[in-house]
Amino acid sequence: RATSAHIHENFLQCFYHQFPNSNYSLSNVIYTPRNASYASVLQSSIRNQRFAKPTTPKPLVIVTPLQEAHIQAAIYCARENGMNFRVRSGGHDFEGLSYVSYAVPFVIIDLINFQSITIDVENSTAWVQSGATIGQLYYRIAEKSKTLGFPAGVCPTVGVGGHFSGGGFGMISRKYGIAADNIIDARLIDVNGRILDRKSMGEDLFWAIRGGGGASFGVILTWHIKLVPVPQIVTVFTVNKTLEQNATKLVHRWQYVADKVDNNLLIRIFIRRVNSSSQDGRRTIQASFVSLFLGGLDTLLPLMQESFPELGLAREDCIEMSWIESILYFADLSGEPLEVLLNRTSSIDQFFFKGKSDYAVEPISEDGLEQIWKEFIAAPVETFEFLFNPYGGRMSEISKIEIPFPHRYGTLYNIHYGLYWVEKGTSSYNKHMTWIRRFYSFMAPFVSKSPRSAYLNYRDLDLGENNKGNTSYAQASIWGLKYFGINFKRLAHVKTMVDPGNFFKNEQSIPIL
Ligand code: FDA
Repeated sequence: RATSAHIHENFLQCFYHQFPNSNYSLSNVIYTPRNASYASVLQSSIRNQRFAKPTTPKPLVIVTPLQEAHIQAAIYCARENGMNFRVRSGGHDFEGLSYVSYAVPFVIIDLINFQSITIDVENSTAWVQSGATIGQLYYRIAEKSKTLGFPAGVCPTVGVGGHFSGGGFGMISRKYGIAADNIIDARLIDVNGRILDRKSMGEDLFWAIRGGGGASFGVILTWHIKLVPVPQIVTVFTVNKTLEQNATKLVHRWQYVADKVDNNLLIRIFIRRVNSSSQDGRRTIQASFVSLFLGGLDTLLPLMQESFPELGLAREDCIEMSWIESILYFADLSGEPLEVLLNRTSSIDQFFFKGKSDYAVEPISEDGLEQIWKEFIAAPVETFEFLFNPYGGRMSEISKIEIPFPHRYGTLYNIHYGLYWVEKGTSSYNKHMTWIRRFYSFMAPFVSKSPRSAYLNYRDLDLGENNKGNTSYAQASIWGLKYFGINFKRLAHVKTMVDPGNFFKNEQSIPIL
């Protein structure tokens, strides 16, 4: 067996060999542990301290391509040398799969230099490279137009490559669907190094990369997206209610309203534990109803009065602003210059983080909600929150098989569980991981069953992992059906067709049949 040192040398030789006439240095394209900047390049897109530990497996080589040929060469040389392959865009994968591989040796292709965005206002479309962030995309759209937007996620530092290929839900998704629903073309490099667009890759592969996770199929270079109309003025509000202020009844009622209300309105709920105002040191639950309405205040108020009067929304709770200002508002960046959307890092990168997800297909009873609050109030961990994201509207009009993302008609809302901590060390790690897993088990009676569905972009390796070698379809179905439902079989067919040797594999990649 070749040692790591041999593989390392062979990969470099192979790579340089691809560019014999290169009259520029490849030193800012290839990084190995011998380079002084290797650690900072690796660290630059690590967004979760769980995967920044000294014991986390590190890549033998990082490639930061400047041109497509560098990616083609990296695929070729990684295959030649039997190396595992990871591609990283924004680095937000909940399980670090874009830069950690427990199967070593591995190489990372980091698309940090693939950030270009071209907006075509006349045709309401854009080309966006995978290494851009959604904040950059929103900024570039707003620079050109006040009445165009795009339905993708809320956190501006999320990368386009992972986000679009795994779904992409955000504040205007009830009106326009998810990011993956609004992709009209893409360019990718396949396992044989060919550069393909929608026409040359064919409809099966084009289908698979819109929600099936890009990493199983190739390296997606750039996406052609359809921009969507947004009004010049939108309205936002945040209404906080504790248990003492009737939160249980309001959350209960919300479940009957949020997926059915006018498509222009999205009301999500953050559930947090806070100190009770009674100053007796008691803890209570606070439900924050956070909302975007695609229209002005004078239309929103009567709509809320008709559909959700219980919340008691008042004029002074609401703020009118432009769509791009609402992006800052939901990212807790209100008051900052728009240029803050161009930042690739944020303070949450400094936390250890574990996330999980669920789908509600029936309302949880008031009694059920009270049991959940009780469990949360007693939690031995500090910074936990969960979030209810309503579906319905456009989300349920699109068929379950249109793209691999299957959570459509019949889904009331998505639940995102997020646990953050700062204390280092194994006992802190164990305490937090154990608790969130226990809470997830506790939630089982209240959420979807057979399968208990999950959202790919909230990746969770607790749902199951591939073997180091090939994994059977049956084994992978344990987690695959949760993410993709009836689309999992077709994904495996596409995978078998386009990557029969299973080169593009990770702990939760699509298996070959
Ligand atoms: P990253 O680079 O880690 O890639 C994720 C996966 O995609 C990896 O498997 C990677 O190999 C693969 N990949 C990346 N680029 C690729 C390419 N060019 N070709 C092929 N494969 C590629 N989601 C949501 O729907 N709505 C939201 O509002 C949010 N908000 C949010 C906030 C925060 C703080 C986090 C950490 C995450 C979210 N997410 C989210 C989840 C987010 O959509 C998900 O983690 C994305 O996969 C992240 O994409 P990145 O490119 O940043 O990740």
